[in-house]
Amino acid sequence: MSITTSNPNKELQGFSLIAAHSHISGLGLDDNLQPRENSQGMVGQLKARKAAGVILKMIQAGKIAGRAILIAGPPSTGKTAIAMGMAQSLGSDVPFTAIAGSEIFSLEMSKTEALTQAFRKSIGIRIKEETELIEGEVVEIQIDRSITGGHKQGKLTIKTTDMETIYELGNKMIEGLQKEKVIAGDIISIDKASGKITKLGRSYTRARDYDAMGPDTKFVQCPEGELQKRKEVVHTVSLHEIDVINSRSQGFLALFSGDTGEIRSEVRDQINTKVAEWREEGKAEISPGVLFIDEAHMLDIECFSYINRALEDEFSPIVIMATNRGISKTRGTNYKSPHGLPMDLLDRSIIITTGSYNEEEMKQILSIRAQEEEVELNADALALLTKIAHDTSLRYASNLISVSNQIALKRRSNIVELEDIKKSYILFLDSDRSVQFLEANSDQYIDDEGNVTFGAKEEEDAVNNNNNNNGETMDTSV
Ligand SMILES: Nc1ncnc2c1ncn2[C@@H]1O[C@H](COP(=O)(O)OP(=O)(O)OP(=O)(O)O)[C@@H](O)[C@H]1O
Ligand SMILES: [Mg+2]
Repeated sequence: MSITTSNPNKELQGFSLIAAHSHISGLGLDDNLQPRENSQGMVGQLKARKAAGVILKMIQAGKIAGRAILIAGPPSTGKTAIAMGMAQSLGSDVPFTAIAGSEIFSLEMSKTEALTQAFRKSIGIRIKEETELIEGEVVEIQIDRSITGGHKQGKLTIKTTDMETIYELGNKMIEGLQKEKVIAGDIISIDKASGKITKLGRSYTRARDYDAMGPDTKFVQCPEGELQKRKEVVHTVSLHEIDVINSRSQGFLALFSGDTGEIRSEVRDQINTKVAEWREEGKAEISPGVLFIDEAHMLDIECFSYINRALEDEFSPIVIMATNRGISKTRGTNYKSPHGLPMDLLDRSIIITTGSYNEEEMKQILSIRAQEEEVELNADALALLTKIAHDTSLRYASNLISVSNQIALKRRSNIVELEDIKKSYILFLDSDRSVQFLEANSDQYIDDEGNVTFGAKEEEDAVNNNNNNNGETMDTSV
């Protein structure tokens, strides 16, 4: 079986977590892996960032595979942010896949297929290929148009400093040359296998041909030696991409299973064998990437046992999981365990913990977020927002930034002031106040059994009036 490895239309890896973390461009470490207090959008959380940096170095060196790392800590303490920072620092040829635990259940395929695809997306194969190129300076292009206008014929004269050759041109090559607007004096390269023409620049000897020059003309030396050259090109694809490309040959059945659908295990087996062969022949290298599973506590026991096994596979990425659960039940079982992960998986994981931020750190994060959202906060507004973050959560406070900005804009101000923050705090509940509100007004909502009670409200209102706290009573002085 022949296996294709290049993908003409590489699918975009959709990922929606970016917006909340768009201010993060790395882990903010110096060359010695020492965390800087505030760098690359990252503030505080020094120990966890340093630990993530150590892991990152090991991944980049390509030295580890099949490891599990768990980032554990309370909500909004930067677990997802740290994973995003790691992703930003990995080179472009180390695959990074991010999924949320719950996604596994919502895709239109079995849990294990979804996990298998996620794992295989995270394993890069660096493939070395030799291609034959013709590279030289165009001396002359001669195109003969037949009188009927149909078939085109032509000749291309091309040279290096040492030799000159004339090539016959067919229709396709003529079109290619015309599309690239190749003229005499251009240095071009032609891929012999695909016929792809690339313009490398103008020859230095033509530097005085002003009429053939644009403002961005690049000048290059006329190549030396032979016209035909062998060049080694390296491209990285993920195992999953190879799977998809090669399973299109399933014919019309692929139409029913969607673009990827479930991929037959025989296809994967064949690909694994082939890749192993290539590796032995030195044609390919495996580059284990990272699979990031956010909200890992959403996985169930079957998923965990799949992961356990997959980590021991010959091709395995580094699996980073994040969770904000303490001792809790593993889904699908009645056992309680730390972080909701089964003991055998925990046992093989190394754990990075994140802790709460102090007010100064929260202040810095909030001001970075405001900058990122192009919102200007005055000092009082930032101080109140920090206090809110401290009393409720960083994420809630961070969400108030854009809301307050809207409120400020409504009174035609470009600067968010104290009053705008107060208004948005009253307008939107944080989780604690929402709970209080629900407890006070539970009779108006539909409960688990689908029951709604109307009518009983008035009497209860009188009782509840005092603790029906909509936020107006918060001390918002700074
Ligand atoms: N150390 C940090 N530096 C800069 N921004 C941060 C830092 N920690 C968190 N943030 C930002 O604060 C917000 C909340 O953090 P994040 O989403 O990473 O929390 P989390 O630990 O993943 O929480 P959860 O358990 O709820 O998923 C995000 O917008 C994130 O980018
Ligand atoms: Mg998170």
